[in-house]
Amino acid sequence: MADATQAPPSDAVTSPVDTSTPSVARMYDFYLGGKDNFAVDREAVRQLDAAAPGTAALAINNRRFLQRAVRTLAAEYGVRQFIDHGSGLPTQDNVHQIAQGVDPASRVVYIDNDPIVLAHGRALLAENSNTAVVQADMRDTEAVFAHPEVTRLIDLDRPVAALFVSVLHCVPDSDDPAGLVARVFDRLPSGSFLVLSHLASDDPAVRKQLTDFMLTSTGGSWGCVRPPAQIETFLEGLDVLEPGLVEISTWRPDPAFAGPEQTSLEWIEYGGVARKP
Ligand SMILES: C[S@@+](CC[C@H](N)C(=O)[O-])C[C@H]1O[C@@H](n2cnc3c(N)ncnc32)[C@H](O)[C@@H]1O
Repeated sequence: MADATQAPPSDAVTSPVDTSTPSVARMYDFYLGGKDNFAVDREAVRQLDAAAPGTAALAINNRRFLQRAVRTLAAEYGVRQFIDHGSGLPTQDNVHQIAQGVDPASRVVYIDNDPIVLAHGRALLAENSNTAVVQADMRDTEAVFAHPEVTRLIDLDRPVAALFVSVLHCVPDSDDPAGLVARVFDRLPSGSFLVLSHLASDDPAVRKQLTDFMLTSTGGSWGCVRPPAQIETFLEGLDVLEPGLVEISTWRPDPAFAGPEQTSLEWIEYGGVARKP
């Protein structure tokens, strides 16, 4: 990307960061020990922890899952291109650092609609010409795939890993998350991969409680916690790799990317990796 010497892309002027309403990106940053969050985000996390005490471990385990999946795809499946939808704020061991640790030529595009991600991502990536951060609404597949940084870095004739990690629960049913995944995979060649995790519960009362909490906290900028069976429909037409869709802390454990014990299972991150045949 985004060589610092290049003219800023057209989306460089973004909406200002709203510090009066909690943001999912900044709440998650706080859970991961980051500093790019505000008092409203920390207060929302405090309330969420009171309602669902296992959420801090869940957030860290989700990030470790993302890191294991990227490392697995780069090291074992030879993937060299990654589009990270809903990438979140930069933290340690980001997708490009893991993928480029396997092959420095690996290309990564981060997509997020929160302006704070663009600001911090650009600073982190100023020297990395194989990586870009794009502010876009991932639901607008057309705009994402037409973005100059995506067309510059991603070769659609070669396999791509499309990451939707802990983000599709931000998309309400009315915006058709399954259709979003399908649109992306229509554009990607055979041999491409989906990395997915999603907040899930089998208990309708838990789903309602946590969905209501997140919708209220974010002023409606959220989707819903879903039952695992609905999340499975997002992978239609793809072949799921072993061990299947699971509570993500149990997905291909690796001591190099291990998280805390997942103590609370009232809601989980449910996910795995699948391949386009
Ligand atoms: C919980 S964080 C997950 C970050 C990262 N994927 C991970 O799992 O470590 C969800 C991120 O998705 C972003 N997001 C939510 N809805 C989005 C949308 N429609 N388009 C782009 N990004 C979105 C949020 O701003 C936030 O940064």
